[in-house]
Amino acid sequence: MARTIIVSNRLPVKVQRDSNGDLQYKSSEGGLATGLGSIYKDGDNVWVGWPGLYFKDKNKAQKAEVTEKLTSENMDPVYLSESEIKLFYEGFSNETLWPTFHYFNQYALYKKSYYDAYKKVNQKFCDAVLELANPDDTIWIHDYQLMLVPDMIRQKLPDASIGFFLHIPFPSFEVFRLLPWRRELLDGVLGSDLVGFHTYDDMRHFLSAVSRICFIGNQQGQITKDRRTIMIDSFPIGIDYDKYANSSAAPSTLSKEVKFRTSMGDQKLMLSIDRLDYSKGIAARLEIFDIFLSKYPEYQNKISLIMVVVPSRDTVEKYKNLKEEVDLLVGRINGKYGSMNWTPIHYFYRSFPLDDLSAFYRMADVALVTPMRDGMNLVCKEYVASKLDKKGVLILSEMAGASKELSEALIVNPNDKHQVVDAIYKALTMPVEEQEKHMAFMQKAIKKFDIHHWVKLFLDRLNSVKEQQKVMGTK
Ligand code: G6P
Repeated sequence: MARTIIVSNRLPVKVQRDSNGDLQYKSSEGGLATGLGSIYKDGDNVWVGWPGLYFKDKNKAQKAEVTEKLTSENMDPVYLSESEIKLFYEGFSNETLWPTFHYFNQYALYKKSYYDAYKKVNQKFCDAVLELANPDDTIWIHDYQLMLVPDMIRQKLPDASIGFFLHIPFPSFEVFRLLPWRRELLDGVLGSDLVGFHTYDDMRHFLSAVSRICFIGNQQGQITKDRRTIMIDSFPIGIDYDKYANSSAAPSTLSKEVKFRTSMGDQKLMLSIDRLDYSKGIAARLEIFDIFLSKYPEYQNKISLIMVVVPSRDTVEKYKNLKEEVDLLVGRINGKYGSMNWTPIHYFYRSFPLDDLSAFYRMADVALVTPMRDGMNLVCKEYVASKLDKKGVLILSEMAGASKELSEALIVNPNDKHQVVDAIYKALTMPVEEQEKHMAFMQKAIKKFDIHHWVKLFLDRLNSVKEQQKVMGTK
């Protein structure tokens, strides 16, 4: 039977060792894992990826245990060595590609040793797929960590059906061209039959890079390379709407909300939830809250910011530095404004189970989603889906892919701090009927274009590209 083989650097399940060295299985963070997490268990589908830890030789038994457990849940683990994690994952993926693609190119490191490891690990993923793949399978590769994999597979399986989706922004040509390996990366992705991005602008930037670097033009997103047609298009990812709406109505969520509310008293609440990342604008958001409290002092003692920061990539230097900066800023603001019975910022540096998050979403009068740059951002969609009574206001950065769909939110430029401050005031004073109107509109869109719709749209399109190649004899 034909299957879909999902391939991504991180599996939806993350394996960790606790302080006794025992294994723990947790859900992975980030848009990719949360987005596709509900899909891969269908039928015979399988997810190829890294379980998030490495094993020394003496831990062979533990490794076998992990493999057995993951395999029984439709996952095929690819193991990385300690040095591959350093050079491929922390290095090329997160110190070269991530900053460049998020327009933080001043943070990017260009090291040949990083690229060599990237190539080697991409080959490892390719080999894992080749071991599994049958001729009828669809191979769907995800994200910036695996840009070379599509072409590596194409070289071995010329007829395979290969899709690639990028979950982060694709930068403008002028930024992308800074990468010494720009040509190799594009050739790698172009091994696919269908290449997808979150937004029209990402797609446009990619096509412009293909034209300027590979000298290949396009016709309405269709390009021809080595006599093979490849389709490039945008597919904005959705969330599992019903999961968030149902969780928001669940008794365990309601009792958590009552518990949190009782401890926080009757004040306005603003919420932000992110992985720890400089692209998320966490430090700037704290400065914005500081300006808000001094510009609108009538809100002192009357509003708190619940700020959830989920630990991420904490072995990478820029992330370590950011953690220190955020800790300092939170301390400074709480010290400046706080009183015996009011804490301006409730700061949590950890992840939470879904019913806690749902309770936060339900309680929040305002969600402050202000990344400097974000491929899509799913937190804003989760907030909207959780607002069963339709009361609440979303403030959303225009630099998040989601802003293209959620035009009913208060859209802001995160660099314009005073604009965001005034948007907070506007949100807090917005009449309830207006809140309900905007929320209803956004809910309708997010419910319709949910994760199931997104998966089907991408896979159906990949099928039709393959059909078209057969008809035109251009595979
Ligand atoms: C983003 C990326 C994903 C990544 C996730 C978590 O959402 O698009 O590919 O898995 O962040 O980051 P991590 O480095 O922990 O996998």
